[in-house]
Amino acid sequence: MTLRISVIGTNYLGANTAAGMAEFGFEVIGVDIDESRVKLLNEGRAPLFEPGLDPLLKTHTDTGLLRFTTDYREIADWADVHFICVGTPQTDGDYAADLSQVSSVVDTLAPLLTKPALVVGRSTVPVGTAAALERRFHTESPAGQQVELAWQPEFLREAHGVDDTLHPDRLVFGVASDAAEQRLREVFATPIAEGSPVVVSNRQTAELVKGAANAFLATKISFINALAEMCDVAGADVSLLADAIGFDARIGRGMLNAGPGYGGGCLPKDLRAFMARAGELGVEEIMTFLRAVDEINRRRRSRIIDVAHDLIGAEWLGRKVAVLGAAFKAGTDDVRSSPALDIAGRIQLHGATVTVYDPQATENARLVRPTLTYASSVLEACQGANVVLHLTEWPEFRELDPAEVKAVVADPLIVDGRLALDADAWRAAGWTFRAPGKP
Ligand code: UDX
Repeated sequence: MTLRISVIGTNYLGANTAAGMAEFGFEVIGVDIDESRVKLLNEGRAPLFEPGLDPLLKTHTDTGLLRFTTDYREIADWADVHFICVGTPQTDGDYAADLSQVSSVVDTLAPLLTKPALVVGRSTVPVGTAAALERRFHTESPAGQQVELAWQPEFLREAHGVDDTLHPDRLVFGVASDAAEQRLREVFATPIAEGSPVVVSNRQTAELVKGAANAFLATKISFINALAEMCDVAGADVSLLADAIGFDARIGRGMLNAGPGYGGGCLPKDLRAFMARAGELGVEEIMTFLRAVDEINRRRRSRIIDVAHDLIGAEWLGRKVAVLGAAFKAGTDDVRSSPALDIAGRIQLHGATVTVYDPQATENARLVRPTLTYASSVLEACQGANVVLHLTEWPEFRELDPAEVKAVVADPLIVDGRLALDADAWRAAGWTFRAPGKP
């Protein structure tokens, strides 16, 4: 009989997981407390912009392998495996992860489980969570000890979520029994057959993997951003420096693009949750180290504002500023912890009029920063601007004709915060062009 899988929480991680499990051939029910999201998903539409996800959802809502509900009773004794995919955001006013969504999943699911089940956490949680949750299932479920907890962290990059789900670069199974390992091997048989490597560990190791991976990626970005500052002083080029060190296989070129620093729903909060947990466990070294990574990241945003200020050579008050990009990176409509939007907001606080254009993220940006002005094209955003800031690396911005943009601005001054534009072409068109980290 084919496995039955429930996916609890159907935002970014859950929607990808549910669609992926159906693509692997299993019967899948996704559960969410948000009725409008469930309705959308049942029509085969993702709750967010993610390339390739809508068609995959539509395929499997049509085949009938995949459906969504708000009712936990439909999954409780139906599924063999329950994946927990709810959010673990940063707690308000604290660095630690907010586990309230995970906790309310247990509140609802545990009393309904009357037969053996494997519950698999995919959300990013502090080390020690799986064991604590398992104790709760053992006391709160009618099935008691027959409910087992495993942890299988996800490594989805936004804008590549479908590919990362179907063809994971590694699978980590944090398990406390052979039976749990075998079950997970069954669930992921397709990518395993394709060659995805599997690391089997205890649950604590698996819980640490995601935070450790993101802390390392954040460290790479902050390292190159710190070097960008050095390049500015020394007259060196940080992009060529990254290319040169990146050829060393031990270093690698990935995550070495200097810019406005990392943002998004993962890196910033995972790094902080990791620090908070290290603090709780009394491991000072990693805390001190990661605090420096976080501080470098924050300074990057100020640095870009300073460079732009320097370029206009006047007070911000009364200036018109065009910001190209609002999403935290290209390929997504996500604005969580977006450096672009933060920089736009801070410049506005200095008294400038800031107009933002983003090809996908305007709606989300408007919800977070309603006082900024939003344009529906680059040229509209740049109309009468005293300075242009390029802050999200959408391909559309690289393809701009500098002469066409120059015709609409008040002053041809541009800061390429992402180091992605063709400096020579912009300068040749008469722009004063600054890219922090490049001469
Ligand atoms: C990240 C991890 O890559 C992924 O493995 C994890 O599961 C979730 O977090 P994501 O948040 O989608 O994925 O974005 P990613 O592509 O890693 O970029 C993170 C941030 O770093 C973005 O703001 C991006 O613009 C920035 N970045 C990335 C840089 O500033 N320089 C780089 O070289 C790469």
